[in-house]
Amino acid sequence: LKEEVLKEIEGVKDPSSLNEIRVKYLGKKGVITSILKTLGTLPPEERKEIGQLANSIKEFLEEKIREYEENFKKKELEDALKREKIDVSLPPNWFDVGSPHPVLQTLKEITDIFLYMGFSVESGPEVEYEDYNFTMLNIPENHPARDMQDTFYLNNGMLLRTHTSPVQIRTMLKKKPPIAIVAPGRVYRKDLDPTHSPMFHQIEGLVVDQDITFRHLKGILKIFLESVFGKNIPIRFRPSYFPFTEPSAEVDIGCTVCGGKGCKVCKNTGWLEILGCGMVDPNVFTACGIDPTVYSGFAFGLGIERITMLKYQITDIRLLFTNDMRFNSQFKGIV
Ligand code: PHE
Repeated sequence: LKEEVLKEIEGVKDPSSLNEIRVKYLGKKGVITSILKTLGTLPPEERKEIGQLANSIKEFLEEKIREYEENFKKKELEDALKREKIDVSLPPNWFDVGSPHPVLQTLKEITDIFLYMGFSVESGPEVEYEDYNFTMLNIPENHPARDMQDTFYLNNGMLLRTHTSPVQIRTMLKKKPPIAIVAPGRVYRKDLDPTHSPMFHQIEGLVVDQDITFRHLKGILKIFLESVFGKNIPIRFRPSYFPFTEPSAEVDIGCTVCGGKGCKVCKNTGWLEILGCGMVDPNVFTACGIDPTVYSGFAFGLGIERITMLKYQITDIRLLFTNDMRFNSQFKGIV
């Protein structure tokens, strides 16, 4: 019987079969229990011998069961530790990382190019004085840019700035030349169609020092445009007019899509209009207390959404502002 018991218990692989053996031998109706129960009916000589034998098997079995139980517990613990081990150094297999909006990515890219060239970054408020937004920038009272149809007017001579150019005024009022700044930020105009949004972003540039010429302007803009759109891209300066610069120009680059052959993006002209610029008008210097006979300078301004749309061939500006994740998530990790 002892051998039989030993054999059975050695074959045990899990706690439930261990329990089966316990019931089979030691349970109320178990083999050993019933032997012990019948002891009283046996003759005294046999009773002693069989009793001792049965008890020793019972003890042996109990001991074995305890041993096995302990082993099972130990193994369970070890397995659990193995299973639940956390390696904090492993990279997560799923991690939804957000990313800056494509407009902000472009803004940062452009700002960084100017920082690299030694410019510093200035900012101004979005709620601006009419004086800073228009008057001191040499935009006369009756100028169409002041029209109620374009400008969001507020009370008390305030408005939502229509461009970042008032930061030129703010900078020149508080700093003496030499000045080399860029000013990125939000601007507002009453405008809404596939390429215009009532809120959009511009970046303004201003350089003021003695002997600053149009050549400096051309050189800086060439470095900037080649950094964004690629080396040796065709660049064209077209005479234009802004009240706060004289002379003024608009800058075009060769179409990045058709390479100058003509397409929908450049409306078959081969050129894309990128920015406005010019030499700071003497009237603006005077308004800011800077002597135009001593100092000269240049300024430029461009729309960030437009650059973003050209870079990624986006044809509807609303895609930039509806915050559809299917759109936004395409710009992960570009910068
Ligand atoms: N402020 C002009 C605009 O909004 C751009 C510009 C800035 C032009 C600086 C010349 C100099 O269109």
